[in-house]
Amino acid sequence: MSSSSPLSQPQSPSSLLTPLQTLKETILGLLNPWVFLSLSASYLPRTILSLIQQRRYSVLLSPSRLREAWFTEFWTGFAGPNIRLNAGPRVVVPLLQGRTTGGDVTDAPVGPPISGTVIEVGAGAGMWVDVYRQVADIRAPEPGSGEVEEEKGEVAEGLTKRKTGGNSDGEKGVITRVYGVEPNPNQHPHLRRAIAAAGLEDVYQIVPVGIEDLDNESAWDGRVEKGSVDCVVSILCLCSIPEPEKNIRELYSYLKKGGRWYVYEHVRCEYSWYMRLYQRVVNVFWPYFLGGCLLSRPTETTIRKAGSWEKIDVGQPPIEQWYGVVPHMLGVFTK
Ligand SMILES: C[S@@+](CC[C@H](N)C(=O)[O-])C[C@H]1O[C@@H](n2cnc3c(N)ncnc32)[C@H](O)[C@@H]1O
Repeated sequence: MSSSSPLSQPQSPSSLLTPLQTLKETILGLLNPWVFLSLSASYLPRTILSLIQQRRYSVLLSPSRLREAWFTEFWTGFAGPNIRLNAGPRVVVPLLQGRTTGGDVTDAPVGPPISGTVIEVGAGAGMWVDVYRQVADIRAPEPGSGEVEEEKGEVAEGLTKRKTGGNSDGEKGVITRVYGVEPNPNQHPHLRRAIAAAGLEDVYQIVPVGIEDLDNESAWDGRVEKGSVDCVVSILCLCSIPEPEKNIRELYSYLKKGGRWYVYEHVRCEYSWYMRLYQRVVNVFWPYFLGGCLLSRPTETTIRKAGSWEKIDVGQPPIEQWYGVVPHMLGVFTK
């Protein structure tokens, strides 16, 4: 049985399969979330052992901190790298290059690539940090050099000319700052390593609090102004944040007019009553094994309702089949 993550699992177009293969794919697809939960469970004993070895006994006595530590072990040890390998080139790179429409990936850009000041929500262990370098030119503005103002003009246009060869994916944006919002302290050492490995120390700043405290100067050593952000990136994280309506509205308020929200999130199943019911059953167990992640959130509706949007181009990737218990929404909201 496949042990890949249902959070990013590609499914075969059923038209290419024989009826027997279709039946097999369907059964495996329906069972896959349970395999994933068992894999997560297998990371609990090693988490406890590692906490004992590190003498972090207080974490063992706090269910919420133990859950965070367990989730970090599982995410960095199995789920994250698996998702990175699979969904990175297939979904996330095209998304940030502006190569998605209607939930599907296109060969050429159909919208602007990521650029300017970026908030990455729920940055986790930094699974996506190197992608910024891949999809954009990185230029940390030097304070007092006048470059900041210059770049604002460029970024406002959303695009700059590609400086190196190749033209299959059009043009790159310039990223000047990334705020990686991540409240789970267990993830920070991994996130820091990913930032250093990508050489993004001058541009990528870890914000060690939740979205709800982004503009709270007493909660962290910095502040992000509302209406100052060019792009928000949310990848498989809005399932895990508290008070989604309130916090998604909050995130909306950080975007500039014309700013873009790049989304790859798993969402509530809409296929049929029996899949909705099945998803709800899986969801009874899911959050306990996956750091509080919830399967049945209507995230697309919540983002739509967060404020007025100039353009919405999102959808479910057409490759996903009806039996997927973890369907996704992919695309871009433009304010
Ligand atoms: C499923 S993980 C995904 C991590 C990362 N985006 C990835 O794809 O590897 C969800 C992340 O959201 C974070 N999170 C939880 N509450 C949050 C909040 N209030 N604000 C921002 N992030 C939050 C969790 O700590 C966790 O790292």
